[in-house]
Amino acid sequence: MSELTLPEVELNIYSKNNPVEVKVVENYVVTKESSPNIVRHITFDISGTDLVDRVRVGQSLGVLPPGVDVKGKPHKLRLYSISSPTSGENGQKHLVSTTVKRTIEELENKLYLGVASNYLSDLNPGDIVKVTGPSGRRFLLPENAQDFNYIFFATGTGIAPFRGMILELFEEQGFSNDCVLVFGCPYRTDLLYTDFLEEMDEKHPNFHFIKSISREGRRKDGSKHYVQTKLIDDKELLTPILAKENTLIYICGMKGMETGIYKELLKQGLSGYLDIRKELPEDVDEIPTEDLKRYVKASARTFEEVY
Ligand code: A2P
Repeated sequence: MSELTLPEVELNIYSKNNPVEVKVVENYVVTKESSPNIVRHITFDISGTDLVDRVRVGQSLGVLPPGVDVKGKPHKLRLYSISSPTSGENGQKHLVSTTVKRTIEELENKLYLGVASNYLSDLNPGDIVKVTGPSGRRFLLPENAQDFNYIFFATGTGIAPFRGMILELFEEQGFSNDCVLVFGCPYRTDLLYTDFLEEMDEKHPNFHFIKSISREGRRKDGSKHYVQTKLIDDKELLTPILAKENTLIYICGMKGMETGIYKELLKQGLSGYLDIRKELPEDVDEIPTEDLKRYVKASARTFEEVY
């Protein structure tokens, strides 16, 4: 494999006790069709702050919502992945974007609105937000990004870093290796950045956008379409790419998705993507989930950001 070098990053230039104020410049919905789940693309102007030239796609920024919780304590900091390329939104290095889903849940018969996500979603251009960061030193594109192929697995807003990475690879670097994005969500109405991703798929023969819709139809064996089941159902495309020794896997989204992907990689004998810390039964289905979680980890070729 080509040598894998990750860029050096400076972490937490701004901390919880020393946040910086940035200005909202845009805030729009990124689901194409009308959806009960509202996801927004929000862009901040970081001009005049030490964040300029110091945030990379794959990192996160912290957001400090104003006000206090029911106990009178300041609201907790929440981390949001950067969804603009390292060069900035639209090539403007003072603009950094993130992707925010409104958290709307029912807990014990009561409506619960996520504090930070709804605060951010309600913002208008010109509003000021207190942010911290950047955070994250590993979920990054390598310095020599051109030397690799990429399989990106995203669920829900886990798409955020991949939007920026895809823009960076294709729009800025004229990427000529293979890149596949496997995106999972419950319904077609939950697809995010669809126009952009479909356009990239059409424009670049070496970019492939695979959708995995979990609650509309089932696989032949009755199971749900999950991002990891695409490793089986889209074998023709994925197996040759995964077999190359300069391919990297990136996983971003809901906690638990990585275990499903690792299990399928094990089944397919793709152990180069894994760090297996204990001898396990040959029949992968016999491995208890707890053991999978404990003993099968990401190798140097796999990057994960799950939450
Ligand atoms: P489902 O909820 O139908 O079981 P979102 O963040 O927009 O809710 O999307 C998360 C997506 O990930 C959904 O399609 C969800 O399916 C799917 N999902 C749930 N559990 C797993 C898992 N263990 N591995 C992969 N995907 C999963």
